[in-house]
Amino acid sequence: MNISKVPTIHVGIIMDGNGRWATSRGLPRVAGHRKGADALRRTIEVAPRVGIHGITFYAFSSDNWKRPADEVSALMRLFAQYLETQVDECVNEDVRISFIGRRDRLPKTIVAMMQTAEHRTRDGKTLHVRIAIDYSARDALVEAARTAPATATRETIASLMPAPDVDLLIRTGGEQRLSDFLLWECAYAELVFLPVMWPDFQATHLEQAMMVFRSRERRFGNAPAA
Ligand code: FPP
Repeated sequence: MNISKVPTIHVGIIMDGNGRWATSRGLPRVAGHRKGADALRRTIEVAPRVGIHGITFYAFSSDNWKRPADEVSALMRLFAQYLETQVDECVNEDVRISFIGRRDRLPKTIVAMMQTAEHRTRDGKTLHVRIAIDYSARDALVEAARTAPATATRETIASLMPAPDVDLLIRTGGEQRLSDFLLWECAYAELVFLPVMWPDFQATHLEQAMMVFRSRERRFGNAPAA
């Protein structure tokens, strides 16, 4: 096969279930988020091996600011810790990291770490990891509508979106909804909802979701193949 024809696969992941994982064990919710960060690390490691080229993780939605202040600050500390410890690893593994979402409401120290991570990993070719923080798909659409000329086409709007089209959307935690994540980009995504809580997410779950994805016929509105 001509290598330039190999389709690139972009996966979106809604990492749900950290809180329930923790409370079912009598632990504070933040313990679930900490384990969730380990699951994130594992997933980034395994993604290129299962044929994924880009992956966007929903780490903090713009609606998550409504959570109790101590949970929000624990999450911010966790993001900072993650960036502190994982960027070298990403550079070594040829992984690019970038962030989508608003930055003006985040602690300045974290924004600076995000910029450093983006700069240091900018040449990564093996996998492009996008992390959505203070992200809202509706806000991204509003922003695109404000920026686009009246003559904008689908392509114009797509070029203003922060992520490419999603091929496979995985949500853990058993809920079956999109929760304001990549609404434009998921127009033709295959949706896979898994009952596993995010901290328990393993390579086998990603492999399983990729198998389901590969078994589906993607028609993009076309008639089934004869
Ligand atoms: C949803 O589970 C999860 C979040 C809102 C936070 C996701 C954050 C992480 C996985 C931590 C690591 C992230 C980075 C970028 C280092 P929930 O708390 O809504 O779970 P619940 O539905 O069981 O309450």
